[in-house]
Amino acid sequence: MAHSLDITVVGGGMITYDLILPSLYHLQRTGIVNKISVCSLDSVPLKILRNSKEITEAFPGQDFQAYPSLSVPENEKYPDLYKEVIARMKPRQVVVVAMPDQLHYPVIMEALKHNQHILCVKPLVLKYEQTVEIEKTALERGLFIGVEYHKRFDRRALIAKRSYALRHFGDFIIGEAKLIEPYFYRSSNFQNWFTCDNTDPFVYIGCHYVDLVYFITGLKPVEISVSGVKGKFPNGNEGYMWTNGRVRFENSALLSVTNGLGYPDQAAGSNEQNLQMFFEGNNRTGMLKHDDQFRGVEHSYLEGIGCGGSFFNYVSPDFYRVVPWEGPGFKPIGYGFESVAAIVGMAHRIENDTADLSVAESLGKRREMIKEVDEKGIIATPANSYINELVIEAARLSILNNGETALIEYEPRPHVKLR
Ligand SMILES: NC(=O)c1ccc[n+]([C@@H]2O[C@H](COP(=O)([O-])OP(=O)(O)OC[C@H]3O[C@@H](n4cnc5c(N)ncnc54)[C@H](O)[C@@H]3O)[C@@H](O)[C@H]2O)c1
Repeated sequence: MAHSLDITVVGGGMITYDLILPSLYHLQRTGIVNKISVCSLDSVPLKILRNSKEITEAFPGQDFQAYPSLSVPENEKYPDLYKEVIARMKPRQVVVVAMPDQLHYPVIMEALKHNQHILCVKPLVLKYEQTVEIEKTALERGLFIGVEYHKRFDRRALIAKRSYALRHFGDFIIGEAKLIEPYFYRSSNFQNWFTCDNTDPFVYIGCHYVDLVYFITGLKPVEISVSGVKGKFPNGNEGYMWTNGRVRFENSALLSVTNGLGYPDQAAGSNEQNLQMFFEGNNRTGMLKHDDQFRGVEHSYLEGIGCGGSFFNYVSPDFYRVVPWEGPGFKPIGYGFESVAAIVGMAHRIENDTADLSVAESLGKRREMIKEVDEKGIIATPANSYINELVIEAARLSILNNGETALIEYEPRPHVKLR
């Protein structure tokens, strides 16, 4: 067996707190993960992670190495510290990229330079050309990159993918997807970066459902038009609060995608999300409908401990929860955990299967295994999910041009342009 892998998480914000660190702690218990380091811009989020009652109760006795140290003043910034931390790692361990979207590219390139496998939260990067460069560099060095599109690991998506391949539905022809995040997001750190020039709800969350339709059907998007409604954040910054996008796929099928930062805080939430798809068959049609919000569990609390301070909540048992188990503390369950486990587990398997090979044989075998993952199309990789970077580029082009249609052309080389 290969030794368990050391992990450096770069970025200590919401996604690290809610999903990444707890998942890594559980993988540490199972022997996949060895030492965990978390590197952040400053010490503030690291203190929150270290002092979290929720995390320490679930994972008693487990800890991470903090960079910078928790004792440095909170206002001191360390934007380049991740480079030193990555440079000190043993080769072919795992770097987790969990910082704001526009910073993924430099961290990924740094990790590749130091021969590290990578788990990157979505989106991998914001430009198609960067994906191509990343894929090429990683393959040359035999390094595995998994992009954490966790909706792919939701059982209903996996079932749909299999059923579509078995032609139980017919050909996808038209569909609707919705994902509306809570209103309280507007008063979070979002107001500092979720501005019109940086991003919009389609790019931030709509891309999950475009990826999902691609995941289920294998159809590539070819045309996108996104319109937005602007609003002001509490700090006065202007952002797109709502968007509606229309995506046409290579077989002419259409998907309408509605997104926003505005699910009522007082509602049962925690957000609104669903997908419905219609299909054409022989003399009849097929359909699938996923309610991704209400998954059949309702809780009414004595205090307002629900999402957004609510008393009554729809609770998803499917994405991520910690629950009692036979071992110490609690264990994570759900497709969020399964997605992290699949990506880190794949890096571990690659190292395990090549541990006893010569340098040249190991490189050849690692490349072969990476290509198998690309081909399988379950874990998102630069090679099998590059349509997402094209979709993001096209969506930004469209929304900044008042909803004009942007085209994604795949020949002779994938690129995006206004119609
Ligand atoms: N459903 C999903 O897949 C999902 C959900 C939430 C977030 N995300 C993605 O996760 C990423 C992070 O989002 P978040 O919500 O955690 O953001 P956040 O603002 O809560 O956290 C960002 C973190 O990055 C750190 N950071 C910034 N610059 C740094 C630097 N130079 N060196 C080290 N750390 C640095 C900050 O200290 C902060 O801890 C984004 O790419 C986002 O799109 C994905």
